[in-house]
Amino acid sequence: MQHMRVLVTAGPTYEPLDPVRFIGNHSTGKMGYALAETFAAAGADVTLVSGPTSLPNPGHPRIHTQRVQTADEMYAAAAAVAGTADVWVFAAAVADYKPAHVAPEKIKKAGDTLTLELVKNVDIAATLGKTKRPEQFSVGFALETTNEEAHALDKLQRKNFDLVVLNSLRDAGAGFRHDTNKVTLLEAGGQMTTFELKPKADVARDIVQTIFARLSRHA
Ligand code: CTP
Ligand code: CA
Repeated sequence: MQHMRVLVTAGPTYEPLDPVRFIGNHSTGKMGYALAETFAAAGADVTLVSGPTSLPNPGHPRIHTQRVQTADEMYAAAAAVAGTADVWVFAAAVADYKPAHVAPEKIKKAGDTLTLELVKNVDIAATLGKTKRPEQFSVGFALETTNEEAHALDKLQRKNFDLVVLNSLRDAGAGFRHDTNKVTLLEAGGQMTTFELKPKADVARDIVQTIFARLSRHA
């Protein structure tokens, strides 16, 4: 995998509401960081675009970590390298909406209710997906609670993914806030593979191995 370039988005995005508050998702960033480490260990050059996490920047010399806060910043950082990357992995839990207005000063407590106006964020994976060349490979994540496979397949098509990693929330110990994960890989070619519950580092290896197998078939 030497000379292969990989873009990984990871972690949440924080969308500011005022100088001290934000809207964001739960996400430790562990899955994206584990994927970056696995790609780098296999010889790839990785750009890791990370939202706010408590994880240290990966120490591997072939991982270039760029820290961002918002979806707009994550999009700009990802777009800057997407054209030259062979593989895109969208592991970030991007906030779907952001406050329509960011208050310049802290919002003071006033009435009994507070209504916020939110506007849709850029869809990083879908927007870049429109620019994907045939030799590039795009991987997305889906975390669903209902009609899991149908929703994941819909995302595969809508965002021009070659592979979607469907996270199971049904099994205890899987998904966000855990160090283990149980995933099903759904591919554009129609293949579907379900793996056992295992540590996120091992899940990353399964995902990276599948990507490498598909890429070598491409070549
Ligand atoms: N994604 C992205 N930019 C966004 C939202 C999502 O790049 N603004 C990526 C995620 O990183 C993930 C995939 O798209 O790889 C699916 O994310 P998900 O939140 O499941 O999809 P949504 O299209 O936001 O749909 P939902 O209504 O289920 O949240
Ligand atoms: Ca979403």
